[in-house]
Amino acid sequence: MSLEQSHPVHLEPSELGTKEYWDEYYQNDLENGAVHSDDEGDADVEGDGDEKTGSQQQPPDPSELDSWFDDVGAPAKTLAFLTSTTFPLSPNYVSLSGHTRQAPSVLDLGTGNGGALFALRLHGHYTGRMVGVDYSSKSVELARTLCAQYASSASSATDSGSSVDNIAFEVFDIIHDSPHGQPWWDASLGPGGFDLVLDKGTFDAISLSSATVADPASSNRHQRRICELYPAKVLQMVKPGGYLLVTSCNWTEAEVVAWFTTRPPGGSENEVFEVYDAIKYPVFEFGGQKGQGVASVCFRKPQRTETDQGRM
Ligand SMILES: C[S@@+](CC[C@H](N)C(=O)[O-])C[C@H]1O[C@@H](n2cnc3c(N)ncnc32)[C@H](O)[C@@H]1O
Repeated sequence: MSLEQSHPVHLEPSELGTKEYWDEYYQNDLENGAVHSDDEGDADVEGDGDEKTGSQQQPPDPSELDSWFDDVGAPAKTLAFLTSTTFPLSPNYVSLSGHTRQAPSVLDLGTGNGGALFALRLHGHYTGRMVGVDYSSKSVELARTLCAQYASSASSATDSGSSVDNIAFEVFDIIHDSPHGQPWWDASLGPGGFDLVLDKGTFDAISLSSATVADPASSNRHQRRICELYPAKVLQMVKPGGYLLVTSCNWTEAEVVAWFTTRPPGGSENEVFEVYDAIKYPVFEFGGQKGQGVASVCFRKPQRTETDQGRM
């Protein structure tokens, strides 16, 4: 099979594949009050000069933040999956061996407003280190503002009283930047990277970019759409034995599986994810065709791959 046949057919590029689109999107959120709840405390209604600003404002509950694929319940379904008694990294995991392990580290790729991490911490009881990255500095500004608000409101807006300490939001371009050498990519992660990596809508956005890069593995520097390089980039950031949860509306479940389990250009058979599980969504029927609007596939990185050799 040629490499061109080994991945699904590309999507038509759109503005959702550009950084300008996302900068404007999050700037709009920052200007239009997406960072605090509408109903309380943030306006100086009594005229007592006690107007609350910035981090003093009451943030919305994480479940009320804007989140992609909310219409099909994807944020709630992914949270339920990650906190189930059967998912090995879940705080509720029932281990037959009785073995306790360190709280898993979590990386959210294309974090947007950071809502997935706030929900995992405040409702899902994931207590380990968390990093949310996005190439839009406006997204990072939005997520940091919300984080400061959760920190200052402490337990008042949550059901757990958990702290948002140890959640960082950083500007990072998944395609063009290397995680190695970033301040957040440090020895505390242990070998290979994060225990759990999340992507909701980010591979979708990257698949809508018309940008191409020269394939480092090809002798004639063949130009490839950036989504073709994405699975290998993500593989580098997951610890061997760790998990990746991808949620997409642009690709079917079978296409998501194909993208992340296909050998990358110039790579070896060992440099791919294996499928761990998938989340089920309601199936709709249109014109005799059965379809599913959103797919969430959980992958596992094999314990030892060639890309880990010689890495931290
Ligand atoms: C559809 S939004 C999803 C946001 C968030 N994950 C959610 O579920 O609400 C896609 C996100 O990917 C980010 N993104 C797109 N390309 C990126 C890249 N190359 N590196 C980092 N972030 C990227 C965008 O800025 C945007 O925040």
